[in-house]
Amino acid sequence: MELNRRTVIAGAASAGLAATAYGAGSASAATGSPGGRPVREHFGTLADGTRVYRWSLENGGTRLKVLSYGGVVQSLEIPDRHGRYANVVAGFDDIADYVAKSPYFGALIGRYGNRIGKGRFTLDGKAYQLSVNDGVNSLHGGAKGFDKHVWDVEPFTRGSDVGLHLHYTSVDGEMGYPGTLRTKVTYTLGRHGEWRVDYEATTDKATVVNLTSHVYWNLAGEGSGTIEDHELSIAAARYTPTDPGLIPTGELARVAGTPFDFRHAKPIGRDIRAGHEQQVQAKGYDHNWALDKGVTAKPEHIATLRDPRSGRTLRIATDQPGLQFYSGNFLDGTLTGTGGRTYRQGDALCLETQHFPDSPNHANFPSTVLRPGRTYRTTTIHTFGA
Ligand code: GLA
Repeated sequence: MELNRRTVIAGAASAGLAATAYGAGSASAATGSPGGRPVREHFGTLADGTRVYRWSLENGGTRLKVLSYGGVVQSLEIPDRHGRYANVVAGFDDIADYVAKSPYFGALIGRYGNRIGKGRFTLDGKAYQLSVNDGVNSLHGGAKGFDKHVWDVEPFTRGSDVGLHLHYTSVDGEMGYPGTLRTKVTYTLGRHGEWRVDYEATTDKATVVNLTSHVYWNLAGEGSGTIEDHELSIAAARYTPTDPGLIPTGELARVAGTPFDFRHAKPIGRDIRAGHEQQVQAKGYDHNWALDKGVTAKPEHIATLRDPRSGRTLRIATDQPGLQFYSGNFLDGTLTGTGGRTYRQGDALCLETQHFPDSPNHANFPSTVLRPGRTYRTTTIHTFGA
């Protein structure tokens, strides 16, 4: 159920429309209108009867479609250098696919982005056992993470911004995590088409938290082939090597002289087959870069992704200390995306702004502990160009 009590269902007009416009005078097209109120349509129904909605919003040349299920970014369209639009994120057409087989396409991740070794950690002298769902480890919040819950969605317009507030409350003990975690994520499209994600959470018991967004990018258009010719830069001199289960060893290794050096933009494919043991283990890149800037009070630019053919560019700014760059290694040609084409290994990539994986078990990593009375607050901004 939406939290928005001001919802106005446009009576007669809505009856024959798939989409329902919100607020007086808003457009009724399912695509939303530039700068106008977000528009809602029914997307699908879960086995338990819960209706899943898709929200469409548009601003500054960016078109975004978001599901109430998992806060999934199902589609994000931006123009190329000739003004031609493409959907640049991997996703499905059908809610059943999201439920049954999504590798976190476009989803919000919680309570803990990436892995916690053996799903165990100790906080204030107390040991916790989390849901284990990736071999012996806990990945992306456990068996039923934030990506698999239906969020309450509340649309807004504010000045020249358009957006959605998404709310989810995780009960004490869910997936083994202590404390009731009240979570609010705000997606905003700004007037230059930038997509901003603000995360907020509070707890009633000491806990750990690390929220992120698991969008799979392909700036040439989803389903159009490999991302190996995309150029990537990451402002990080160090990364966190992992054991074979992709749990950080605790070392902060230098990228200099290794395939992990993205300090100057280079095509992703250039060194992806270099045979570095860390890459062999991960089947490509699936690592956390320790951003040079560390934790910052305000979002700072940390990475740029560019598709030279279309000219489309994504710039990421964050206040978080880490960036997980995952080169779509587990995509294996068995999933069919929104454009009707299958996704093969390396057909999309993730750039997840975050705290370091397994931080609760590494005293030398920035802390992910959240205590009652404090508010977890982080922001990541995606800016597009061509
Ligand atoms: C993250 C992880 C990867 C993989 C994907 C989802 O990026 O680091 O190892 O689990 O999510 O497939």
